[in-house]
Amino acid sequence: MQSMNKDKTPYKILQVLKDGQFHSGEALGYTLEMTRSAIWKGVKQLTSHYHLEIESISGRGYRIKGGLNLLDKNEIARNTPAPLREQLQISLLDQVESTNDYLLDDVRSETRCGLPYHIAIAEQQTQGRGRRGHQWHSPYGHNIYFSLAWCCNKDPIEMSGLSLAAAVAVIRTLKQLGVEGLGVKWPNDIYYHNQKLAGVLIDLVGESYGRTTAIIGIGINTYLSEKAASVIDQPWTSLHDILGQFIDRNYIIALLCQHVIAMINQFNQDHLEPFIDEWNQHDCFKGKKVILTNGTQHIHGTMQGISKKGELLLEDEHATIKKYSSGELSMRESK
Ligand code: BTN
Repeated sequence: MQSMNKDKTPYKILQVLKDGQFHSGEALGYTLEMTRSAIWKGVKQLTSHYHLEIESISGRGYRIKGGLNLLDKNEIARNTPAPLREQLQISLLDQVESTNDYLLDDVRSETRCGLPYHIAIAEQQTQGRGRRGHQWHSPYGHNIYFSLAWCCNKDPIEMSGLSLAAAVAVIRTLKQLGVEGLGVKWPNDIYYHNQKLAGVLIDLVGESYGRTTAIIGIGINTYLSEKAASVIDQPWTSLHDILGQFIDRNYIIALLCQHVIAMINQFNQDHLEPFIDEWNQHDCFKGKKVILTNGTQHIHGTMQGISKKGELLLEDEHATIKKYSSGELSMRESK
C-alpha cells in the first residue's frame, strides 16, 4: 500500500488546495516554506500519481475545482453514536489497492485488535474490485470506498443472502440522505432511475471452529467528474448529481456504518427474512421479463422476487418458479 506521507510536499499542498480556491505557486511556497520549483513538483506528483485534476492558470495559480472533502477519523467519530464508536476500529487509508483486500490481509494475518468491527475506508483505490471480476473505478478524494469486517460464529453457507441485506442497508443510508427513486438489481446493485449509484461486494473467509469473517465492501458514488466517469462502461450517477450538492463524506460513512451494523445484528439472528419485503419493494425488475446470463447460458423468465436465501426467483413459460443463485440479470427487450 502506498500512502501520501503527511510530512511530504504533495500532502501539504493538498491541505491548502482542498479549499477549492486558486493559490499561486508563490503563495503556496510562502505558506509551506518551500521553493516554487518544489511546489511545482509536488503538484505534478498529485496529478501524475494520484490522478487529481488540478487546474493551473497562469497569473492565478493552482486550483482543485469544487475543492475536496477529505476523510477525517475525528469527523466520523463525531457523527457516530458513542456505544457504536467504542466497538469500531477505523483504518483510514490514503491510497490502497482495495479496501476489501486490505481487510482480507488483516483477517489472514490474525492481527486483529479485538474490537467487534474493523472498517477500512480509503481516499483512493488503485485496484478497486466490483462484482464478477469488474473493476470499481475509484478516483482520489471522492466517493465512498468502505469495507467492514464482521467475524461471526456461522458457517459460510449461512451467509447466503448477506449481500442482499447489505444492499438494503445501503438503500436505508441513501434514503436518510434524502435520495428517493432508488432501485436494486439482483443481487445487490443499487440504481437511481436506471443509473448505477452504489454497489456491494462481499468476500468470505471461512475459519476453523465454524467461524467466518465476512468482508462487506460498499462503493457509493458521491461525485464523478466527466473525465473520471469517462472510463465507466455503464450508465451511472452520483449523490452530487442527484441532490445538487456535496454531502460530507465523513457523515455518509458514519451513517453507513450505523445501518450496516444494525443490518448485521438483525441478519445474525434472523438471516435475510427481515429484509426480503424491503428488497422486493425496490426491485428494479419486479414482474418484468428478464434474461439471466450465466456464461453461455441465457435463461428467460419473469422476475418474481427473491427466496429466503437470496436466490433469484424466475417464472418460466410453464408458470413454474425456479431458483437461481448466480448470473447476470438484464431486462428482456420487448418486441
Ligand atoms: C459492484 O457493484 O460491482 C460492487 C462494487 C463494490 C465496490 C466496493 S468499494 C469498497 C470495496 N473495495 C473494493 O475493492 N470493492 C468494494
